[in-house]
Amino acid sequence: MINKNYANLKESYLFTEIGRRVKAYTQANPDKKVIKMGIGDVTKPLCKAVTDAMNNAVIEMSTKEGFHGYGPEQGYDFLRNAVADYYKNFGVSLKSDEIFISDGAKSDLGNILDLFDKDCNVLVQDPVYPVYVDTNIMDGRKIYYADAVEKNGYLPMPSETCDADIIYICSPNNPCGAAYTRDMLEEWVSYANSRGAVILFDSAYEAFIEDAQVPHSIYEISGAETCAIEFCSLSKTAGFTGTRCGYTIVPEALVRDGFELRKLWLRRQTTKFNGVSYVVQRGAEAVFSAEGQKQIKEQIRYYKNNAAIIASTFDVLGISYTGGVNSPYIWLDCKCDSWEFFDKLLNEIQVVGTPGAGFGKNGEHHFRLTSFSTLENTTEAMERFKKLKL
Ligand code: MLT
Repeated sequence: MINKNYANLKESYLFTEIGRRVKAYTQANPDKKVIKMGIGDVTKPLCKAVTDAMNNAVIEMSTKEGFHGYGPEQGYDFLRNAVADYYKNFGVSLKSDEIFISDGAKSDLGNILDLFDKDCNVLVQDPVYPVYVDTNIMDGRKIYYADAVEKNGYLPMPSETCDADIIYICSPNNPCGAAYTRDMLEEWVSYANSRGAVILFDSAYEAFIEDAQVPHSIYEISGAETCAIEFCSLSKTAGFTGTRCGYTIVPEALVRDGFELRKLWLRRQTTKFNGVSYVVQRGAEAVFSAEGQKQIKEQIRYYKNNAAIIASTFDVLGISYTGGVNSPYIWLDCKCDSWEFFDKLLNEIQVVGTPGAGFGKNGEHHFRLTSFSTLENTTEAMERFKKLKL
């Protein structure tokens, strides 16, 4: 009766476990100021272009003419067109009906699995965003792990030794912050096409890319439209972690076993999803306006500055790390059990990060800090790090 695959999952989701430990600590130590650099949650409020658009939408909703009930499950045209226009910046041409508005990348990355057989083999990188792994464990799929380690710059390349049907790529990567160049993604696309695999490309951190060699979208690579689905979210791009809005792109040209995946996804979404609220979609549309882009870029610069503060502190302390350039995450070598390091930081300097082990076996002895805290707290956390006996 019950899906027994759940018995193969860890007791709780990574960030739930961190939240549990932090709550226990703060309850026992109410006088201590804890600085949270664990889950990638933003601290800057929504930018003015977004809140103005949402305020206007709320007022519209209070009028007979402007009220919106159920919307299209795949999103309003105004937002799908805004996303399509945004992709033109990367030389990517999308039809609006290839774009599906969602409540964020995490949900769609899990939900997309409805389209695939349970006996498909899955390839993820290790370390990996735990959602890719846990959602496949829930379905009982076989999972292969590609090592993302210092030796390969945390960027594993295709290997003929594993017969993957579904390939997850997150670039820039969570948790390491490494990002694939155009040439490297070309190899992945050609590998997926040659074997009929599907790439699930998570571009949640694309707005943090600085390096011109790093594509913002898998569709910058020719041939990706016949093998890749792309997921993006406004959570990190525009501070929508609590507001919830993202989008998934399923190209018309992606066909497997005679099925057009775009049509299957449309069927799935119209059946199981009632869309993102009108007010939120108006806010999301404003992210892609000229003013919205200017304002969110300022926020990203602020977080990047935090990353630079963390990086320069670690340079001084001789802590080796990667990330922070095309990504909001710093991935450091903690040289010990990563959950022990988590407890040490929490107990001794009241700084919360994410233990690398939560991202897979190669995450052991590593630790992730986010740059999404405030400038003041980031600076204070680094001062506390200097006092830590490592
Ligand atoms: C993270 O910290 O890895 C992300 O914020 C989690 C998420 O986006 O669900």
